[in-house]
Amino acid sequence: MKKTVVITGGANGIGRCLAQAMLQDGDKVIVVDIDETRGCAFERAHTPDLVFIHTDLSTPEGRAKAVKAIKDTGLMVDVLVHNAAIGKGGLLTADEHDFMDVLAVNLIAPFSLTKGLMGRLSSGASVINIASTRAFQSQPDGEAYAASKGGLVALTHAMAMTLAGKARVNAIAPGWIDTASCTHEAVDHEGPDHRQHPSGRIGSPADIVKAVLYLSDSDNRFINGQTIVIDGGMTRQMIYHQDHGWSYDPEPKS
Ligand SMILES: NC(=O)c1ccc[n+]([C@@H]2O[C@H](COP(=O)([O-])OP(=O)(O)OC[C@H]3O[C@@H](n4cnc5c(N)ncnc54)[C@H](O)[C@@H]3O)[C@@H](O)[C@H]2O)c1
Repeated sequence: MKKTVVITGGANGIGRCLAQAMLQDGDKVIVVDIDETRGCAFERAHTPDLVFIHTDLSTPEGRAKAVKAIKDTGLMVDVLVHNAAIGKGGLLTADEHDFMDVLAVNLIAPFSLTKGLMGRLSSGASVINIASTRAFQSQPDGEAYAASKGGLVALTHAMAMTLAGKARVNAIAPGWIDTASCTHEAVDHEGPDHRQHPSGRIGSPADIVKAVLYLSDSDNRFINGQTIVIDGGMTRQMIYHQDHGWSYDPEPKS
C-alpha cells in the first residue's frame, strides 16, 4: 500500500536517502527542512510526489508553520519520521542558548509536530524518532546533543503509550553513519575506522533506511515503544587497555 511519509531533515544525509527510498516505493513524501536550496531542488526533481516545506524547527513559529503546511496538503500521515537534528557542544563550548537550540530542534520539534498532527495520523500510523547512540554514551563536550537524544528515547516510549491504539512510536539509535552515499558502497575512511566496528565497517544511510522501512511496515506492529540500536556493535564492546588491540593513549594535558 502506498503511504504518505513526513520526514524532517529530509533535504540532506540520512533523511534524504530515506526520502529517495520512499519515493522509489511509490510513496508520497513530505520533506520539512531549513535548507531551502537543497529542499527546493529536491522538490523540483520529484514533483508531484515530493512536497518540500521550508521552515526552521528551532522556533515555535517554524514548528507551527510545518504543522499547518502538512495539514494543508489534505493528506493523512502514515509515517512520521523525526530526523532533523543539530549539535552545538556542551559544558566546554555551549552556552544556555546553544543548549536550548539543540533541544528545540532535536526534542521539542518531535513533540510539537506529533502533537500538532495527532488528528492527521492514519489508523495504524508509525512515528519514528531518529535518536543516536549518544543517548547512551559520550565523548567530552557533547552534553546538548546527548541530552536531546536521551530525551528523544524517553519521548518515544511516552508517546507510544499516549498514542496506543492510534499509532506506534519507535526510535532508531544510529552509531557512526557516513552520509556521503545512500548505499553500502565503501566510503573514504582508514581501515581502523571500519575495522574497530564488530561488523567490520562504518554504517551507511542504507542501514538506517532499512530499519525505518521495517518499523513502518504494519506487519511489524508488535514492535512498539522501542529503541533499536544500529551501530555495527560498537556500543557492545568491552574496552580495556591492552586487551584485544585497544590501548589507552590520552591527549597530553596542556
Ligand atoms: N550521521 C551519523 O553518524 C548519525 C549518528 C547518530 C545519529 N544520527 C542522527 O540521524 C539524523 C540524521 O543525521 P544526518 O547525519 O543525516 O544529519 P545531516 O546534518 O546530514 O541532516 C540533518 C538535516 O536536518 C536539517 N535541519 C537542521 N536544523 C534544522 C532546523 N532548525 N529546522 C529544520 N531542519 C533542520 C538540516 O538542514 C539537514 O537537512 C539526526 O537525527 C542525527 O542526530 C546521525
